[in-house]
Parts: sequence; C-alpha cells; structure tokens
Amino acid sequence: MEGERAARSEALARPCGWRTLRAMAPSSPIPAARRTERFHYAIRNVVAHARALEERGRAVRYLNIGDPTLYGYAPPPEIVEALARALRDRKHGYAPSEGLREAREAIARHMTTRRAARTEPSDVVVGAGASEAADLLLSALVEPGDEVLTPVPSYPLYGAILAKLGAVERTYRLRPELDWGPDLDELASRIGPRTRAVVVIHPNNPTGAVWSRDVLASLLAVLAKCPNVVLIADEVYADLAFDGPPPALAALAGDGVPVVTLDSFSKSYLVPGWRVGWLAFGRHPSLGAELRGAVRKLAEGRLCSPGPPQHAVAAGLDGPRTHLADVVSRMRASAEHVAARMARIPGVSCVPPRAAFYAMPRVPLRAGQTDERWVLDLLEATGNLLVHGSGFHMAPEDGFVRVVTLPSVAELDVVLDAIEGFVHRADAAGGGA
Ligand SMILES: Cc1ncc(COP(=O)(O)O)c(C=O)c1O
Repeated sequence: MEGERAARSEALARPCGWRTLRAMAPSSPIPAARRTERFHYAIRNVVAHARALEERGRAVRYLNIGDPTLYGYAPPPEIVEALARALRDRKHGYAPSEGLREAREAIARHMTTRRAARTEPSDVVVGAGASEAADLLLSALVEPGDEVLTPVPSYPLYGAILAKLGAVERTYRLRPELDWGPDLDELASRIGPRTRAVVVIHPNNPTGAVWSRDVLASLLAVLAKCPNVVLIADEVYADLAFDGPPPALAALAGDGVPVVTLDSFSKSYLVPGWRVGWLAFGRHPSLGAELRGAVRKLAEGRLCSPGPPQHAVAAGLDGPRTHLADVVSRMRASAEHVAARMARIPGVSCVPPRAAFYAMPRVPLRAGQTDERWVLDLLEATGNLLVHGSGFHMAPEDGFVRVVTLPSVAELDVVLDAIEGFVHRADAAGGGA
C-alpha cells in the first residue's frame, strides 16, 4: 500500500516518459507515427510547389483537383434551400451515427429505383463524403497484412486508407489500349487467400473511362467465384457519365457478388465541401450482420458525419435533378475538347474520357525524366498545375499525367496552348521521347 502510494507520487512528480525525455535533447522533434511514411496524396502534395511559385509572384492555374465549384458550377437551388432551412430551423445537433433516417430513406430509394439495386435504409451508412464511408468500410473489413486490389491508375484515397490500416494494396492495371478498361486476367490472377476486397472506380477517376456492359459482366463473373471478396464499387461519378449513368455494379451483381456501393453528393450535386457521401451494402448473404455491425460501431466512434447537409439529401435525390443535363453537357464539351486537342499534339496521346472531368494523356518525357519532373517543369514554365500519373501509381517513366478538364473550353484553350508550346519546346531541344 505504502509502496503503491510512493510509486504514484513518483509518477505524478515525474510524468511518464520523464526519463526518456531527460535523455533527449531539449529541442528533439516529436516523431510522427511510422504508418504516415507510406501515406501519399499526390493530388494535394503537388500544391506545395505551386504555392512556392505563387510566393515568387507567379500566377498558377490549378488543374490538379476535381472541384467543380471552382469553375462556375453551382449546386441545384433546392439543396441549398434545404440546407438553409435546416440551419434556420436550428438543426445544429448531432445526427444519428449511421445518418439521418430521411437521408438514408432517400438514398435507398435512389439506389432501388434509379440504380436498380434493391436497397433498404438499413443498408446505408452516411459518411463525411464517400471518403469517410470508404474509410469506415475498409477499417471494418481488413486486418493488417490483408490485401485489397485497387486499379492502376487509381484515385489515391484507397491506397492512403490501406497504408494507414497496415493493409497491403495490390493493384490491377487499367489499359489505355482497352480505353482504360481493366486487365481482367491480371485482376483474377492477383486475387489470393488474403484478398478481402477489390475496388472498382466506375466511372473512373483519373481516366474518365466508362466500361461496357460486357466488361462489367466479365468482372462480376471473376468475382462470383470469390464470395468472400467484397467488391467496393465507387460510383461517385455515375450521374456524370456523358451517355447517361452506366448500370450500377450492385444491380448487375444481384446476390451473386458481395457489392458495397460508394456514392456521394460531392460531384453530381456540386457540393464537395459539404462532406455528404454514403455506402450501401448489397444483398449478398456474406455481407452479414458482423461486417455491418463493425461499420456501424466505427461510425458510432466518430459520433456522426456533418448533420445539417444531410437534411438536403432527400431534397436533392428526390428533387427535379434538372441541373444534371446542363452540367453533364458542359463537362462533356470540356473533356472532349481536351482529349481532342491533346491527341493532336505530336508525341501526345489521349483516350477520350466518357464521364466526369478528368483526362489522362500520355506525354513525351526526356530520357531519365519522370512524370513528376515533367509536371513540375510544366508548372515552372507555364504556371499550369497537373498531377503526375505516378501519383496514381503509374510507372513514373510512362509519362501519364492527369488533367482536370473543368474550365470552360475558352479557358482550357489557354492551358492547352501552353502545354502544346511546352511540348514543342522540349521536342525542339531534343527532349521528346
Ligand atoms: C473516385 C472518387 N471517389 C471518391 C471521392 C471522394 O468523394 P467525397 O468528396 O464524397 O469524399 C473522389 C473525389 O474526388 C473520387 O474521385
């Protein structure tokens, strides 16, 4: 008893780690957790270089981040009014952890009627964007050392979450010669005993690809043989496909493949800062109470995603959705313009995007030059910021870059003139590959 009291007062007088602290130099920086070393997010990382350029007085055009609100796209008024009403009505409190009931009902209706994938409100969990929904799902699903297959090029969210979880990101290739379709043989060969999930981003970021029904069916046929592998269908761009939304993977899969769909208000309702997205469990019996319960438990651990914007979900999904026709036609015009002009630059090729606001051209590199170096050289020379393909896991020497195609055609022409001039100058200097 006496000894215990002495130990406690010793601990109070010299708090934990005191000995270690004394041993360290007074100015030693506090180390960061090692898991962060594997965490890269190229889309935002390149911004540091652009900011440095701006500090030197140069103007920078940011074509690195897919935020339509920066380019004159505005959300439909009915959702702005619904959010304003929620705020006026003092709906400032915590929402239920899994999301507001009326929001989940609207999402279930949207999935069931428009996406043809029968969904109940209890299948839905609302997150702070699809990003948080993906984090909740993967955190509930994978153990350290488990494997998840992601596409290459890939939107980096998934690798970032997996790095944090100590899970292994394995990749399957999307091939430009297949119009950025998947290499399904490779995908099948990469599924192993520790594979817990396959991520499909469809329509795709960063390529803008939309796959044919045949490709989707072949993909599902591969996965139907692996009932314990979850197909994570990131369909945040479905409403922004130029020829209408492609079929939902959950609808095509029925109860043949365990599909969890991710979707979001960010892109199709033009409110990325609201942080409203969701996951919806499909009907496959292996998506059972244990996994659903684990997602819910993790959702409870962060209390809830932002409450007020959830009051606008039903207004948006059940509303007229008339904004989409104009938005998609503007996005289509810009994306097709970029692809066509890029493909006319000697040495550059570009698969025309079929959705959203990205294109992934291939540019000529100098011998030994990486795609990141090309992007930084372009930034330095022209003030235009793109993202290097290796930020999406492409090989740095392959020379792919992602262009956000959101500006108007007239604004894009300024960027494309600059890129064209930059490529010509590199070629004239004997640099083009
Ligand atoms: C393919 C893809 N999935 C998910 C997200 C994240 O969406 P949210 O804003 O809903 O988190 C993005 C954002 O760019 C994306 O491109």
